[in-house]
Amino acid sequence: MITNNISLKEYNTLNISVKTTYFAQPKTSQETIAVLKSDTAKNNSIFILGGGSNVLFKSDFDGLVIHPCISDINILDENEDTIKVEVGAGVEWDSFVEWATNRNLYGIENLSLIPGNIGACPVQNIGAYGVEVKDVITSVQGIYLDSLESFSLSNAACKFDYRNSVFKQELKNKTLITSVCFELRKKGELNLNYGSIQKDVEALGERSLLNARKAIIAVRNSKLPDPKEFGNVGSFFKNPIIDIAIAKDIFKKYPSAPSYEVSESLVKIPAAWLIEQAGWKGKSIGNAAVHKNQALVLINSNGQATGTEILELAGAIVSDVEKKFGISLEKEVNVL
Ligand code: EPU
Repeated sequence: MITNNISLKEYNTLNISVKTTYFAQPKTSQETIAVLKSDTAKNNSIFILGGGSNVLFKSDFDGLVIHPCISDINILDENEDTIKVEVGAGVEWDSFVEWATNRNLYGIENLSLIPGNIGACPVQNIGAYGVEVKDVITSVQGIYLDSLESFSLSNAACKFDYRNSVFKQELKNKTLITSVCFELRKKGELNLNYGSIQKDVEALGERSLLNARKAIIAVRNSKLPDPKEFGNVGSFFKNPIIDIAIAKDIFKKYPSAPSYEVSESLVKIPAAWLIEQAGWKGKSIGNAAVHKNQALVLINSNGQATGTEILELAGAIVSDVEKKFGISLEKEVNVL
């Protein structure tokens, strides 16, 4: 059940070559509890690893990595308009999106092709093209690591926010998520308001779920590197939310700076734009590089980068953006 001295290179999408002292891949909740009750779990630090698409390993992990592999999709309830479904933490996020769009279920098509597994989707409230996963999550199930008691947290109790939730705050490193419940719609409207998505869908033909998924996949493939080709964790930084007064100073100097209104006093500025203006798009330090098509994505350019090299590049970017704009970029990725 628990193996020793395992390489994690295949289990993190940055493809960083590190090892863990102990590794477990439980396939059911019962197996998960058995792993958590083991002496290995009691005597070592524990890290829960989902699809590895949002983690950066600085060095080998001296402890127990648990990689939940619970992979059932169960329909809990359905009526004329909606369907409730419980999905195991080990299911790959995009295979669930494919499952839903193939069944004509609306709600997550804009989140197509986001790397990672179901168990991680609530943690950072994954989002793309005007949709966040919080819009369709009804509850999150799991186990508290200290008491080994099970929990089910409602959507409200998860305290979802932009790339944030209770699992990144009060409950950080305190839970293991075993499944997520979603409510998807049988009928509905597509959300095509972001960028050129509407035009992209219309170019494919009718406004259908499958065409929305196809269009989103095409946009992502054109901008974001395939982790199989260049190791990456998607967006490395969050888009900073800043005071309108600071933003106005930036707009004076850069009238075409992109921005999204968050509230009357706050705006979000794309970190990719700040990084590009600071001159880092396409640049590299050693084996770590800034992607040439999306400046928010750092890549392991030849499969040889270490976590430290990626962090060095990130540090240089943060420092230059801070100098140029007075804005401090915050990492989206978890550093271990
Ligand atoms: N831009 C640049 N240079 C670039 C790329 C973008 O200046 O190299 C500017 C452009 O003005 C563009 C704007 O930034 O219009 C926004 O770019 P994009 O639509 O690519 O989105 P983003 O804000 O950079 C966010 C998410 C992505 C998500 C996209 C699409 C965050 C941290 N990232 O990126 O999420 O796919 O929107 O909705 O919010 C992820 O989290 O891993 C991820 C990829």
